[in-house]
Amino acid sequence: MAAIKFFEPYPIFMKRARGSHIWDVDDNEYVDYLMSYGALVLGHGAKPVRDSVEAVMDSLGTTVFGTPTEGEFAYGMTLRDIYHPGGSVRLTNSGLEATTLAVRLARAHTGRRKIAKFEGHYHGAVDRLLFSYSPEVARAGNAKSPVPIADSADVDKGMLSDSIVLPFNDWEPTERILTRDAKDLACVIMEPFEEGVIPGEMNFMNNLRRLTRDLEIPLIFDEVKTGFRVRLGGATEFYSIMPEIACLGKIIGGGLPIGAVVGEADILAHLDPRGRQGTVVFHSGTFNGNPLSINVGKATIDALSRPGEFDLLRRRTHRLKGGVSAALAERDIPHQMAGEGGMFNVYFTSKPVRNYRDVRSSDLRLRRFLDLELITNGVYLKPENRYCLSLAHSNEDVSVTKERFAKSVDNLTASVAS
Ligand SMILES: Cc1ncc(COP(=O)(O)O)c(C=O)c1O
Repeated sequence: MAAIKFFEPYPIFMKRARGSHIWDVDDNEYVDYLMSYGALVLGHGAKPVRDSVEAVMDSLGTTVFGTPTEGEFAYGMTLRDIYHPGGSVRLTNSGLEATTLAVRLARAHTGRRKIAKFEGHYHGAVDRLLFSYSPEVARAGNAKSPVPIADSADVDKGMLSDSIVLPFNDWEPTERILTRDAKDLACVIMEPFEEGVIPGEMNFMNNLRRLTRDLEIPLIFDEVKTGFRVRLGGATEFYSIMPEIACLGKIIGGGLPIGAVVGEADILAHLDPRGRQGTVVFHSGTFNGNPLSINVGKATIDALSRPGEFDLLRRRTHRLKGGVSAALAERDIPHQMAGEGGMFNVYFTSKPVRNYRDVRSSDLRLRRFLDLELITNGVYLKPENRYCLSLAHSNEDVSVTKERFAKSVDNLTASVAS
């Protein structure tokens, strides 16, 4: 998907939101499952968010200092203690800035150039990582030895020779490729759950952790989608696997721009400007660690971390996921469900969905039409995107959505039949 807001036949302009609901410019109301791509885990305009926006102006008197602040330090430590106890943290303004910085740190630390990523995994709109995210399968080579394909017209073709593509959840070729290229590899970056929902299988993840450690290749978990959503401690907690670096974004800003790199202190030490010349990674950003994102992010994480809250999110999500699957099963529509914690997705295929090629061989056209039908029936998600719930989604929202989902499937089936 080369643009965040566009979809065929045309995107819908929204004008207002509250809790789990949004309204378009024609005053149609929707239950929102986009939740700004998962960033809004408390819902739209949640009270802790509103209060902390006001508190920043009232107590700090500004939106940005351009200096370190106590709040920035404290929030950084909170993220560090959850994602890499004993490590270090650096805040950025977005997820893509976090992944970009993580890869730059890995290159500086290892002195190696090549970057390995998994086919179908997204790490932000930055040229260095925009390869083999959504390649045409016919051009992407054999499933067991995929070739790097540029996702964007500006990607330097020469750069692709330093880009390695790995097949997700396929251990034998992954091991072969990593072993072959180990001496040139600066890092392996991955979404531990592809598209935020398709899990790396436990054996695969354990093998990957062991091998990258043995080969001394830093492993980067891109947790921009999964952080605070598959578990409070993200995929790192889910797998009990500690990567050298985790990248965070979305939820940690509570709806304001932010990103974070959390990881091994000796890798992040390259950010110390007092280091020896030639070892320092230049990192800057006018709004890095700004008080608004920090305070809203902190209020969000505090609310989500209160006893029972994450479980509530998980239970509601589970209920809707079950309802979607049941509606399809009752109608004999082959499908696979995926997702953990506060998000899930559905794929129309009878085969298990374990990686990008499986997603691409599912019925994406049916999925697109169903999503458009859902929008017509007051359920909003960007077509083909995952469902993200929030603490504002009530049991009633879930019940209404289940009904609307069944109705949308029936409408679509009837229109195909006629
Ligand atoms: C896994 C992953 N990494 C990185 C990014 C980029 O984050 P941002 O859009 O904040 O730049 C995204 C955005 O969706 C993402 O899902």
